Amino acid sequence: MDPFLTIPFVIQRVKKETSDTVTLEISRPDDRVKTHSPAGSAFSFLPGQFNMLYVLGIGEIPVSISGDPNHPEKLFHTVRKVGAVSIALSLMEKGDRIGIRGPFGNPWPVNKAQGMDLLLMAGGIGLAPIRPVLYQVFPERDRYNRIGLLYGTRAPEDILYESEIKQWRSKFDLEVLVTVDRAAGDWKGNTGVVTTLISKVSFDPDRTLVMICGPEVMMRFSCLELQKKGVKPENIFVSMERNMKCSVGFCGHCQFGPWFVCKDGPIFSYDQVKDWIGKREI
Ligand SMILES: Cc1cc2nc3c(=O)[nH]c(=O)nc-3n(C[C@H](O)[C@H](O)[C@H](O)COP(=O)(O)OP(=O)(O)OC[C@H]3O[C@@H](n4cnc5c(N)ncnc54)[C@H](O)[C@@H]3O)c2cc1C
Ligand code: FES
Repeated sequence: MDPFLTIPFVIQRVKKETSDTVTLEISRPDDRVKTHSPAGSAFSFLPGQFNMLYVLGIGEIPVSISGDPNHPEKLFHTVRKVGAVSIALSLMEKGDRIGIRGPFGNPWPVNKAQGMDLLLMAGGIGLAPIRPVLYQVFPERDRYNRIGLLYGTRAPEDILYESEIKQWRSKFDLEVLVTVDRAAGDWKGNTGVVTTLISKVSFDPDRTLVMICGPEVMMRFSCLELQKKGVKPENIFVSMERNMKCSVGFCGHCQFGPWFVCKDGPIFSYDQVKDWIGKREI
C-alpha cells in the first residue's frame, strides 16, 4: 500500500472524554465495505502504532490508535485539542469524513513481556496508546505474570476512559492505581506525580517489562525511578512524540537524536534514548 495514500473514513461516533479530549470511532465508508470483502473493511494494527489523520483544508497530524487490535473493524482515536488540526478533529460529528494514512511506527513489545510482570505507566493523553496493550493482553492473560497500570493526570476531571478504568479496577488479576497532581472535590484517591505510584505496586524488577507514555519529563523521571528499583533499561520502553509530516522517514521533521520517530519509533527502549529523552531541542 502506498504510504502517502490517504483513504477516506467516516466518523461513526464522538465520545467526549474530558473537557479537552474526545474519542472518535471511525470506519471506512459503507460504499467501500459493500464492494470489498469483509477483511477489506478491517484496519489491522498493533498496539502502539499511529495513523496520520487528515482534516480537509486544515492539515494532517499523527495520532495513536486507541482501540482494540482484536477488533480492527472499529478504529478508535483519542484526541486532545491543542491546535488547529486537533481542534478540528474534536469538533467532528457523526457522518463527517476525514482522511487516514497508516498504520505507521513500531509496536509496543507486548510478546516480549510474556512470562514477565508487565507494568504500564501513562500520563494524561498517554493512556490512549497504552489501552490497546490491555486489550491485547486480557484474552491471553495467563501468558503474563502480574500486570499493573499506573495512571496520572493533572486533576480528577482529566481522567480518560473513566468507566473503563472502573471495570479494569474490578479485575482481580490487574492492579490499577490512579493519581492526580491536584486533588479537587470529593477525590479520595492518590495525589502526586505518577512516579510516586511505583513503590505502591508489586513487581519483580528483574523480570519486569515496563511501557510508558506521557509527557517527556514524566517518562524521563519514571525511567530513572524504575532503574533505581532495579528494572533493566532494556526492559523499559517509552513512546516518543515529535512533529511529523511524511511519517515514513523522508522529510526529517521528526528527528530525535540519531533517529526518526516515525520510522525508528515511536517506541524506543530507555537504553536507546537515555542520552536524549527530556532534553530540549533534540
Ligand atoms: C506518534 C504520535 C502519537 C500521538 N498520539 C496522539 C494521541 O493519541 N492523541 C493526541 O491527542 N495527540 C497525539 N499526538 C500528538 C499530536 O500529534 C499533536 O497534538 C498534534 O500534532 C498537534 O497538532 P495541532 O495542529 O492540533 O496543533 P499545532 O498547531 O501543531 O500545535 C498547537 C500548540 O500545541 C503544541 N503541541 C503540539 N503538539 C503537542 C503535543 N504532542 N503535546 C502538547 N502540546 C503540543 C504546539 O507546540 C503548539 O503550541 C501524537 C503524536 C505523535 C508523534
Ligand atoms: S515525519 Fe518525515 S521523517 Fe519522520
